Amino acid sequence: MKKLLLILTICSMTFVFIACGGTDEKETDDKIMLTYGGAASGFEPQLLEELIVEFEAIHTNIKVKRFATPPETDNVRALYFQMFESKSSDVDVFQADVVWVGEMEDHLINLSEYPESVDLSTNMFPSIVENNTIDGNLVAMPLFPDSSYLYYRKDLLEKYGYENPPVTYEEMTEMATTIQDGERAAGNADFVGFVFQGNSYEGLVCNALEWIASYNGGSFIESDGRVSINNENAIEALELAQSWIGTISPAGVTGMNEDSATQVFQSGNALFLRNWIAFYAMLTADDSVVKDKTGISLLPTGIAQGTHAGALGGWQLAANKYSKHPEEAVMLLNFMASKQTQKKRAMVLNNSPAYVELYLDTELSEFIRDSKDVYENTVARPSSAAAPYYGEVSRYISSTIHDVLIGNMTARDAVGKLELDLEEVMGKVKETQN
Ligand code: GLC
Repeated sequence: MKKLLLILTICSMTFVFIACGGTDEKETDDKIMLTYGGAASGFEPQLLEELIVEFEAIHTNIKVKRFATPPETDNVRALYFQMFESKSSDVDVFQADVVWVGEMEDHLINLSEYPESVDLSTNMFPSIVENNTIDGNLVAMPLFPDSSYLYYRKDLLEKYGYENPPVTYEEMTEMATTIQDGERAAGNADFVGFVFQGNSYEGLVCNALEWIASYNGGSFIESDGRVSINNENAIEALELAQSWIGTISPAGVTGMNEDSATQVFQSGNALFLRNWIAFYAMLTADDSVVKDKTGISLLPTGIAQGTHAGALGGWQLAANKYSKHPEEAVMLLNFMASKQTQKKRAMVLNNSPAYVELYLDTELSEFIRDSKDVYENTVARPSSAAAPYYGEVSRYISSTIHDVLIGNMTARDAVGKLELDLEEVMGKVKETQN
C-alpha cells in the first residue's frame, strides 16, 4: 500500500513537473530557452515574473520560463533528485534549500569555474558561503537566509490583559489556553491557541529543533558528528509539544505546513503562529484580515533565560549540471541572486538579504535591517555534519517526531529510537569520509 502511494505521489509530482516545466515549449532558432525553478505561493511568483522580464530585456537572445515548485521542501527536493537521476535538463536554475547543498553537490554547476559571471568577492554571510562551498568549489549562491518567529494577535493579548508576547514556551501555553477558552466561550468554536508546521516533513524538523535547542537539548547531531538527541532536556521539550495537540493546537496541526498554518492565523482563528520571516509580508498585506492585529516576536525560550532558538533556514540559487546552456544558466543565476534582486526580494517578500551591506540600506524596512542580529542566534540543522545523508536524517527526525505528536510514541521512546537511527546514518557518513 505504502509503495503504491509513493508511486502515485511521484506520478502526480511528475505530472506537475511536466505541466509547468521546461518540456512543452520548443527552442526557437534564435532564442535560448531556460527554466527557472522557484516558489509557487505568496507574492513570489509575481516578483519572479517581473525579474524574468527584466532579465530578458537585457539578454535578448534568452527566454526564461518559470517552473512553479510544489509546496513543502521535501516534495521539491524529490523532484530535483528525479531530474538529476535521469540527467535531465528540465530546470536550468533553481532555488535550493540550505540543507540540500551538501547532498546535491555532484549535480550542480561549479560556479567557481565562472569567475567573470559570478561575483565571488561578495560580502555575504560567511557561514552561508561556507555551507555552499564544497571542496573549495562554490556550488550555490546565497539568495536569502531565513529565520523564524512567533506571530501573535496583538489585539487578543491586550484584550486578555497580557502586555507582552510570551518569553517561554510554558508562558505561551498558558496564554494560549486562557485565550482559546475565552474566545470559544465568546462564540468562536474554531478558535485555536497555536499553529505550526506539524506535518511529517522538513518543516517539522525545523520546529522540533527549535523546541529542543531552546531547552538546551542540542541539535540532534552536533557539528562534530556526535548524535546528541537522547537527553532529558529534549524529552522535556517533546513532552510539552505532545501536550499541545488536542489542547492549544488542533489535531489537524499534525498535517499542517507553512501555508496551511498561515491560513488558519490569517482567517483570524489562531492566537499564535510559528513561521518564517517572509510570512510577515502576507499577514500584514492590505487585504489581510489580521493586517493591523499581527505582532511578531522572537520564538519563546524553553527555560527562563534560555535561548530564543530559531532554526536557520534559507535558500540558495543553484544551476543544474545537466543544463544544455550552462553559461546562460549561470548568467540567469547571477542576475537572480544579484544584490539588486536581493534588495527587491527584501522589499517585496520580506526576505532577509544574504548581502551583508544591504542591512545598512535605509530603503529596507527597519525590521529587515534588524533581522541581521537574529541570525546570530539561529541553530543550524545537522545538514553539514550528516552530508551527503542529511535527507535520511531529516526523514527519521520528521517521522519520529510526528509519531510523538500524534500520540503513537512517548517522547522518551522517540529520542531512544532516533539515537539508534541517527547513529546508523552517521556510520554511513563516516564510511564516505574514509
Ligand atoms: C523554509 C526554510 C527552509 C526550510 C523550510 C522547511 O523554507 O527557508 O530552509 O527547510 O522552510 O519547511
